Amino acid sequence: MDRRLLLVGLSSSALLGLAGCNPPADNSSGGGGATGAPSSGGGGAGGGSGDSIKVGMYGDMTGDTATFGQSMKKGLDLALDEINASPPLGRKLEVVVEDDRGKSDEAVSAVTKLITQDKVQAIIGEVASSNSLAAAPKCQQEKIPMITPASTNPEVTRQGDYIFRICFIDPFQGSVMAKFAFSSLKARKAVILSDLGSDYSKGLSQFFKETFLQLGGQVVAEQSYQKGATDFNAQLNSLKGSNPDVIFVPGYYSEVGTIARQARDLGIKAPMLGGDGWDSPKLFDGAGTALEGCYFSNHYSAESKDERVMKFISAFKAKFAGEVPDAMAALSYDTALLLVDAIKRAGGVESEKLREAIATTKGFAGVTGSITLDEERNAKKPAVVLQIRGKEFKYVETVQP
Ligand code: PHE
Repeated sequence: MDRRLLLVGLSSSALLGLAGCNPPADNSSGGGGATGAPSSGGGGAGGGSGDSIKVGMYGDMTGDTATFGQSMKKGLDLALDEINASPPLGRKLEVVVEDDRGKSDEAVSAVTKLITQDKVQAIIGEVASSNSLAAAPKCQQEKIPMITPASTNPEVTRQGDYIFRICFIDPFQGSVMAKFAFSSLKARKAVILSDLGSDYSKGLSQFFKETFLQLGGQVVAEQSYQKGATDFNAQLNSLKGSNPDVIFVPGYYSEVGTIARQARDLGIKAPMLGGDGWDSPKLFDGAGTALEGCYFSNHYSAESKDERVMKFISAFKAKFAGEVPDAMAALSYDTALLLVDAIKRAGGVESEKLREAIATTKGFAGVTGSITLDEERNAKKPAVVLQIRGKEFKYVETVQP
């Protein structure tokens, strides 16, 4: 029922439809999974042959790391404003959003529904690498191009030639932070605290470690936690015993704040370092001031003076009540526009042609940098290092790949 509403809304105005219906529709249809949702027929009727082009988005609109999905949708909505102001090939873009609540099994259900019921022609998502990894094989099997804006684990695009990403990967991100720790902070002894259930966190830990050791540093202790944990005292106490120069915490914002606060309460003074998973307007919720002076790597800086970035930020603020877009929103905005660029070059959305057009993207000018996809369907892009000061992320440096 919600979906039918969405489709009706979209046929007259894609944007109204999106803005008006998404949050309630996500909760009901996403929760119901692929089999529970009624095949309200609207999806089939609109799929492929109609005037509009249907694109699916899946992500966590609710759950522990819900700013990931919410920012992805905001970036997408802003891109849609521009796209549908002059529709590609005269066809409006219509987006169907599925909430997977940040769970891998629901990510699979979400893309299954988008493909089989909604008949989308391309899919944008997920944010968390574990969820992209879970859902990618279905997109590959059905030959529906999937572009993840943000999943950085190298395995994601290895799921097949229909799976793309427009961001850098974790071997690079890990090396950026290892070099920063070693060279800029002069750290020689690092410890790592990782999220055991996250492919992102496990991978990034490993890549950080590899580079840090190569540089001549030591990783003197490693500890882990499970997503959703709230008490990190045992791990932190043990790490404290190693007297580290830096603590690398490649987790998601949902736990990082609490980890930082508990670390400071235990008297640990070493700076904490992290990756893109820290980036969220909610990072400070559990942290108070405990993250002051800490550093993380990211895909863009909202302080950039680049004209494209400044334009994006002011348009985003105007649309979303003054909110400063996080990296996820910027990446998602870029993903939608890159997809449309490929659709135009493909002359439509025929699966193989669209796949080929995305794969041959070169020098696409995004807010998060220039995007060229390599033969492994990854983007080589610079990373930025940001420092937390007050409640702001201050630009420190840009690292080229
Ligand atoms: N790179 C993270 C992952 O692969 C996801 C992420 C990207 C989170 C950007 C926040 C911002 O899981």
